[in-house]
Amino acid sequence: MIGISMPSVTLNHELKHCYENNSIFNQYKILAKKYQVDLCMFSFRQISTNLKRVDALVYSCMQDNLIRKTVALPRVNIVRNTRYVLDQGQINKFERLRDQDIHFINFPLYRQANKLQNYELLQSHDQFKNHVPPTKRLSFEQLNSFIRQYGKVVIKPIYGSKGRGITIIEKDQVQYQICQTPSGKNAFRNSRNQKMVSIPYSQLKKFYHENFRNPASFLVQQWIPFKEFNGRPFDIRAVVQKNGKNKWQLTSRVARVANKKGQITNLSQGGEMVSFSILHLEKYYMDIREFCLEIAQTFAKLYPWTAEMGIDLAIDKNGKLWYIETNFCPEKTRWATIYKTPFEYAYYLYTRDLNIYL
Ligand SMILES: Nc1ncnc2c1ncn2[C@@H]1O[C@H](COP(=O)(O)OP(=O)(O)O)[C@@H](O)[C@H]1O
Ligand SMILES: [Mg+2]
Repeated sequence: MIGISMPSVTLNHELKHCYENNSIFNQYKILAKKYQVDLCMFSFRQISTNLKRVDALVYSCMQDNLIRKTVALPRVNIVRNTRYVLDQGQINKFERLRDQDIHFINFPLYRQANKLQNYELLQSHDQFKNHVPPTKRLSFEQLNSFIRQYGKVVIKPIYGSKGRGITIIEKDQVQYQICQTPSGKNAFRNSRNQKMVSIPYSQLKKFYHENFRNPASFLVQQWIPFKEFNGRPFDIRAVVQKNGKNKWQLTSRVARVANKKGQITNLSQGGEMVSFSILHLEKYYMDIREFCLEIAQTFAKLYPWTAEMGIDLAIDKNGKLWYIETNFCPEKTRWATIYKTPFEYAYYLYTRDLNIYL
């Protein structure tokens, strides 16, 4: 039996709609039948405190039926989270289960979203160190030193997402040009909310203290001039996943072009998705693939339960690749990336586990 762990709201929705064609259950059922393995859908929060049993929706392949019952927790479980897990109780549960060799594939720990730690990890590897923008925890001294060295810098929340709360500072002949994205949760889908200001050199300290009350929760980084498409910078979101052969595979890649006036490519900040073929990136394809697979392998050493990542990378104006960030709850759009590849990897672990006990 393979487990599918999902947020309780998703599970409750599934309970009502599981017989509809496009339900999550029906997608997994196709795979369960193909591989002749039973399924067990549950919410992680419902796992009993002794960790052995869970109230679940169980699909039997042999009987081709779906029953709600309490069962022993499967040894291999696919986690369908769209958010990082911050709740320490849930994290403790995950870790205790891991100690008992019960796998929760892709359980996204909040600490995995720490951008600074992720940059530092990659910078410590020779093969990446020239492809990671110089990055430091924010302080006024560090900001000044980076502006002096690079002319243009970006400040980001260490636990940021969706392009929120980003400040870009560029020094020109007479002043600093500053662009800020909103940090609120509702500030989506356009770049109009971005704030542009110019301040004289003498005002930087005041700006800094007004804007960064808790500088330790931000990082400062060299701004990389990305390659442009029609005068608009773009970057790339690649999704890498472990497949049925236990190998990392690049399963999706798309370019994101910044909005006309924007400098940030996030779709939530007005960026636009553009296919590779329009941008003529064929000559970079092999390098991008190799770069992403190596990054995945490096993070997987630290987070061995992780079997998928969304990697943001960019090509600069000289054609060099740069790492921008890793997302451990990446959005996926195709059936194969949402269902098939994760299931086949789970099946790999499942059969390997069975073999141990044969
Ligand atoms: N060092 C950089 N140089 C140029 N652009 C950057 C840099 N860092 C981030 N950006 C832009 O800002 C966007 C958001 O940054 P990112 O680190 O991915 O944070 P988030 O988690 O908010 O998406 C990137 O997609 C890119 O367009
Ligand atoms: Mg990003």
